[in-house]
Amino acid sequence: MNEPRFVAVATLDELPDGTFRRILLEGYGLVLARQGSTVYAFQGTCPHEKADLSQGRIEDGRLICPRHLASYSLVDGHVSRGWKVDALKLYPVRIQNGEVAIDAEAVRRDPPGGARKVWDFTGP
Ligand code: FES
Repeated sequence: MNEPRFVAVATLDELPDGTFRRILLEGYGLVLARQGSTVYAFQGTCPHEKADLSQGRIEDGRLICPRHLASYSLVDGHVSRGWKVDALKLYPVRIQNGEVAIDAEAVRRDPPGGARKVWDFTGP
């Protein structure tokens, strides 16, 4: 049996404008971030030294890591100049009937690095 491709992980009401939210999908820690009507989904920890990216901020379309301030494009994941780290992994998002759904197949195909189930998380 085929698994669903897009999986609802939160409602828009649970993700007010300007906020971040940690989620688990397929056993991997991801972060959702909402800017206006746009929701981004990306790996939960920084490719540099695994800082919690739900503590970051977004400026001019870039995610700023809270620890050493590397910034990542929210279009293609590329890191700011001068950093020798992998690109940030971004995952497709759909907003459907007030729910935020993530492409679980993309997560399975190219999972974020680091340990699985990185947070003590009680689930939605
Ligand atoms: S841990 Fe993110 S820039 Fe170092």
